[in-house]
Amino acid sequence: MSLLHRISVFGATALALCSALPCAQAQNSSNQLAQRPPMGWNSWNHFRNKVDDAVIRAQAEAMVSSGMRDAGYVYINIDDTWEAGRDANGNIQTNSKFPDMKALADFVHSKGLKLGIYSSPGSQTCAKFEGSLGHEEQDAKTYAAWGIDYLKYDLCGLKEQMKAASNPEEAHKIMIDSYKKMDVALRNTGRPIIYGLCQYGQDAVWRWGTEVGGNLWRTTGDISDKYAKMAEIGFSQAGLARFAGPGHWNDPDMLEVGNGGMTTDEYRTHMSLWAILAAPLLAGNDLSSMTPETLALLTNKEVIAVDQDAAGKQGDRVSTEGPIEVWSRHLADGSQAVGIFNRHHSALTTTVDFGTLGFTGPVKARDLWKGEELKNVKSSFQATVPAHGVVFLKVSQ
Ligand code: GLA
Repeated sequence: MSLLHRISVFGATALALCSALPCAQAQNSSNQLAQRPPMGWNSWNHFRNKVDDAVIRAQAEAMVSSGMRDAGYVYINIDDTWEAGRDANGNIQTNSKFPDMKALADFVHSKGLKLGIYSSPGSQTCAKFEGSLGHEEQDAKTYAAWGIDYLKYDLCGLKEQMKAASNPEEAHKIMIDSYKKMDVALRNTGRPIIYGLCQYGQDAVWRWGTEVGGNLWRTTGDISDKYAKMAEIGFSQAGLARFAGPGHWNDPDMLEVGNGGMTTDEYRTHMSLWAILAAPLLAGNDLSSMTPETLALLTNKEVIAVDQDAAGKQGDRVSTEGPIEVWSRHLADGSQAVGIFNRHHSALTTTVDFGTLGFTGPVKARDLWKGEELKNVKSSFQATVPAHGVVFLKVSQ
């Protein structure tokens, strides 16, 4: 029995072995997709169960007319609540909100965009709609026939089976096997479909997400449009960088930018941190009614370039001083994206010594949100960082 096979059979062993080995690197991503963190939009954060065919068409149109598609956002992802039951042959049906999924996919594709969908390895989804349990092959074929390009596969309903397991190892194996099953089903369709795991980071998914075919995996519980939750999730990602890379990304959940619950500085923190984390950028607002300020936050070219950097190396925390955190990400051109974050509720001033980031002597630094070079930067820099805000730099020797 090969090592990899044993890892996939014995979930508990996988945790022990992969914590010692760079598992994500050791195993090839199965489908060669998502060489950069996926960018697009998802219906859940703003629309919840109010998503329907008209909403999806309006988002696709706005994605193009706003310039977001040209900034790199291509996936339009339908989250939970599109599902009805099954027909006599077990084929998954759409409910009345989605009269013709194939026609909708054709429409989205005609805009130069891609369409994503959502299901669960359990018999029910989180919102208690029909899941894929026992119908994995059939559902994957249906998705492919519709023209689906992305699947978010959300654990929820499978928890029942996992609770009934006699021990944690068995529960883990039930989960791993079900994720693997859908991976095989998706690959058997022959259609390139990005595979997103959603099980909130359970059992250190970053250690085995690649092994079950995931192109990305949620590392945390659900985000909300509040600074406290966004910061809790984003700053908790320290230490996960080594598990991500081209084809397999940590996913700290979708964006809340533009949903109205945070200040502009807080949304800048959200975007900057997600870019340093090489996180998928899935906008979660109503694209058809966004303000110019929201659009500017979502489409800042230099911030997106950090997220999409060709080296695909996730960044990490470098230092903390009370509520001040410095995070850095190594970029393909030898420079570093450096985020100086202030988690305090009023502005703070701090000095960053670039020597601690590995630079020697004077550096060049560019403020990515202001879009300008900093003048007279030596080997250190004094930054005044707004409340809950960030100074986001690109630093080179
Ligand atoms: C879970 C997921 C969310 C969303 C909902 C839908 O809570 O984490 O992102 O998909 O289910 O029911």
